[in-house]
Amino acid sequence: MLIRQETPADYPAVYSLVQRAFASAPVKDGTEQDLVVALRKSRHFIPKLSLVAEDNGKILGHIMFTTLQIGTHEALTLAPLSVAPGHQRQGIGQALIREGHRIAKALGYEVVILLGSEKYYPKWGYQPASTFGIRAPFPVADENFMAIHLDGKKVRWDAVVKFPSAFGIENRE
Ligand SMILES: CC(C)(COP(=O)(O)OP(=O)(O)OC[C@H]1O[C@@H](n2cnc3c(N)ncnc32)[C@H](O)[C@@H]1OP(=O)(O)O)[C@@H](O)C(=O)NCCC(=O)NCCS
Repeated sequence: MLIRQETPADYPAVYSLVQRAFASAPVKDGTEQDLVVALRKSRHFIPKLSLVAEDNGKILGHIMFTTLQIGTHEALTLAPLSVAPGHQRQGIGQALIREGHRIAKALGYEVVILLGSEKYYPKWGYQPASTFGIRAPFPVADENFMAIHLDGKKVRWDAVVKFPSAFGIENRE
């Protein structure tokens, strides 16, 4: 399986993949495929951090990291992550996360935050964002709002995340 940067030729396959992956997800809003489109058009998009997992010419997974602001710091958010139904639980999600973290670190980013399953992301090093003093701009269970420091540092930022408008989240202090 090859993990590589997404290209415009992949956009239709990625749209369909994200739609199919989230159709069976326990937590979703049904518009994750449109979020990908909106984020690509935004200034928060980093082409090197939109990756696909490809096997024999078929796109089986996709991950996207985009920039956001946490207080005075520029950081990343991981969203969305999608693996094709029928190919889940085979390590594709893990491979995409690990490669994304490697590239993000090489680009100089320190912290990634996300909203997700407390059963999945801690496997790859994510902890409650509150551990770093990072707060969500909306009410959320502490265990579902997570962060990782890519160098494993225990920083304390004491700041609220400001999401890009593509997420449709009202940012409140
Ligand atoms: C969640 C998702 C991205 C995980 O990718 P994946 O390639 O299936 O997962 P991996 O093979 O890398 O990791 C497997 C491990 O994570 C666990 N896991 C997989 N999917 C999980 C889920 N939805 N919730 C909790 N744990 C999960 C498995 O138990 C497994 O651990 P184990 O082998 O020790 O039991 C994928 O299942 C998916 O696309 N789901 C639908 C879309 C979605 O919900 N995305 C957002 C996640 S917040």
